[in-house]
Amino acid sequence: MGEREDRVRDLLARESAGGEVTVRGWLRSARHGKDLSFLDLSDGSCLSGIQVVVDPGLPGYEEVVKPLRTGCAIEARGSLADSPGKGQRYELKATAVELLGAVGDDYPLQKKRHSFEFLRTIAHLRPRTNTIAAVLRVRNAAARAIHDFFQQRGFLWLHSPILTLSDAEGAGEMFRVTTLDADAPPRREAGGVDFGADFFGQEAHLTVSGQLEAEIAALAMSRVYTFGPTFRAENSNTSRHLAEFWMVEPEMAFCDLTGNMELAEAFLKSVIRRVLDDCVEDMAFFNQRIEKTVLETLEHIAATPFEHMTYTEAIAVLEGSGRSFEFPVKWGADLQSEHERYLTEEHVGKPVVVTDYPASIKAFYMYLNDDGADPERRTVRAMDVLVPRIGEIVGGSQREHREDVLLRRIEAQGLDPERYWWYLELRRHGTVPHAGFGLGFERLVQFMTGMANIRDVIPFPRVPGYAEF
Ligand code: 4AD
Ligand code: MG
Repeated sequence: MGEREDRVRDLLARESAGGEVTVRGWLRSARHGKDLSFLDLSDGSCLSGIQVVVDPGLPGYEEVVKPLRTGCAIEARGSLADSPGKGQRYELKATAVELLGAVGDDYPLQKKRHSFEFLRTIAHLRPRTNTIAAVLRVRNAAARAIHDFFQQRGFLWLHSPILTLSDAEGAGEMFRVTTLDADAPPRREAGGVDFGADFFGQEAHLTVSGQLEAEIAALAMSRVYTFGPTFRAENSNTSRHLAEFWMVEPEMAFCDLTGNMELAEAFLKSVIRRVLDDCVEDMAFFNQRIEKTVLETLEHIAATPFEHMTYTEAIAVLEGSGRSFEFPVKWGADLQSEHERYLTEEHVGKPVVVTDYPASIKAFYMYLNDDGADPERRTVRAMDVLVPRIGEIVGGSQREHREDVLLRRIEAQGLDPERYWWYLELRRHGTVPHAGFGLGFERLVQFMTGMANIRDVIPFPRVPGYAEF
């Protein structure tokens, strides 16, 4: 055993039939007729399986082949032949079939469609379904396209930490990491838990973003990006939130919000284009089975410029829409998913970049605009990219590179400047305008595949109350 077998994807891509081949994989179905057995074998390399045709005259047919059914792992050897059946180019005419892994009577996957809710309860087996396997291949292709995009533009992949002492978003939505005894933690004299006795000598958490570290690296390497898992302990039970998700965060020195928006648009278009080109079969499947508008939407997006508007303009559009939204529209309030979707789906009908949000609803690190004396109406150089069906897919900003302004913003948000000492000090030594953004990788995959729930585009979803598998 090893890498000797042929992959189904390569076999189906061959120019012509002929030759001896060996395949290994799992049966998606087994049909035993009077004259022949038909085994639909998948090895995960592509959406299509290969049909293995077995003649009952094959030695060992009754003992080995006849009992085969959905879920069995087998090896089949034989010749690659043109298939008379429709929907497949080649089939494998078996000269030997070996059972590698039998299947129990309680194998839960059958040839019928299962609900995605049910499949989440069997995440150890769901990659064997067409849809989840196609999602995993699209994820893989998108990840590769992301690395290629940045590498071709001279960005360095920075491996930002997962364990951290600072809250990168200042929103307090972090998972605590501790080795203290949960039943009897050490106490301070003044009361409360003594985290000085904890593993890192301070309270530590799982990171919500690699941005602050990416800024350190950008102010030395000029262009960097992170791509890794991030964690949010927000109690959001929605189809767009995960407690653990992957984020892509480019950061550029000598860059303002305009350059940042240009990068985000070029980036999204490039990754979408690559996935359309590299995952033709899987994307056709999503378009047919999951969401009828996916291909049309993606082609359109790859070819047309994004729309732009400020937050203040967006509020005016929403107020003038005549819609009654569940959440009220008011300058100073954050945009909710329903507002975002109205703007991108109905108002512009394509992706829209909303900029210059009120300072009071955005993170401390965003560059403060010098716009008007009224402190209540101050805005920051923020940008969110909104796309149909998802709403916010990218969030970013130009960064506050002025030490005094940054310190005031940290204090105004009730955060402890001590925690951010190195982030502040970075503004004292060779500080320059810089900017970056974060793309939620699962939201992108959800957008591209048309999958309704974000829990079905990550192999092992973590959400409030659930982290099985
Ligand atoms: O808008 P967010 O919170 O921005 C940041 O974290 C910045 N530090 C990024 C930066 O400027 N470097 O998150 C960025 C993106 C969102 O637009 C969204 O796509 C995704 O991350 N995201 C989530 N995806 C899934 N589940 C969640 N709970 C998410 N929270 C944010
Ligand atoms: Mg955001």
